[in-house]
Amino acid sequence: MIVKSAEFICSNTQISKLPPPEKPEYAFIGRSNVGKSSLINMLTNKKGLAKTSQTPGKTQLINHFYINEHWYLVDLPGYGYARISKTKKEDWNKFIRTYLDKRESLQCVLVLIDSRLEPQKIDVEFCNWLGEKGLSFVVVFTKADKQSGLKTDQNVALFRKALLETFEEAPPFFITSSENKLGKDEVLGFIDEINKT
Ligand code: GTP
Ligand code: MG
Repeated sequence: MIVKSAEFICSNTQISKLPPPEKPEYAFIGRSNVGKSSLINMLTNKKGLAKTSQTPGKTQLINHFYINEHWYLVDLPGYGYARISKTKKEDWNKFIRTYLDKRESLQCVLVLIDSRLEPQKIDVEFCNWLGEKGLSFVVVFTKADKQSGLKTDQNVALFRKALLETFEEAPPFFITSSENKLGKDEVLGFIDEINKT
């Protein structure tokens, strides 16, 4: 798929104010600073579309972007950010989980995982929660340019193993880098396939 247009639509803290659930929607989520906003900009060829930052916790709202006048790409706030209050964390959890659980137009959740790290409990638990809710998801490994292919492959294999403790089958995996556009065609092709069905 070629991204011909990508338009910022709205930022939200309220489920009631989201765009009507009339278009296929894909949500990008992962730990704070994993590279969600950078990946969105890479996929859409628009550098400043989603705000990126070296400071974790930059994205705090549900951001809707309208792609090719057909589907929504959604940038969600990162989880696991240590430097926010417990109450704020709980609010985040409730808000995002309600969104994921109730959004009728949500086709697939793209869970971003830092390819430099061995499986993190918070990520595995989040995937398990998606599974419990019956939500379809794929795993997108980010920042693959930061280490050798071998190291990435090792971490990917470990993550697959961690998921297979709960799931009978591992979901699709993608290896990406926003720096050198690795994985771009694969991720967009995957979304395109679902949009066609
Ligand atoms: P929050 O919105 O704060 O949760 O963060 P985020 O997940 O949206 O991360 P963001 O895209 O803002 O990126 C965080 C930092 O990682 C920035 O300094 C990016 O430049 C860097 N980064 C993101 N993706 C890549 C990548 O593929 N390669 C490299 N080398 N750096 C990356
Ligand atoms: Mg962000």
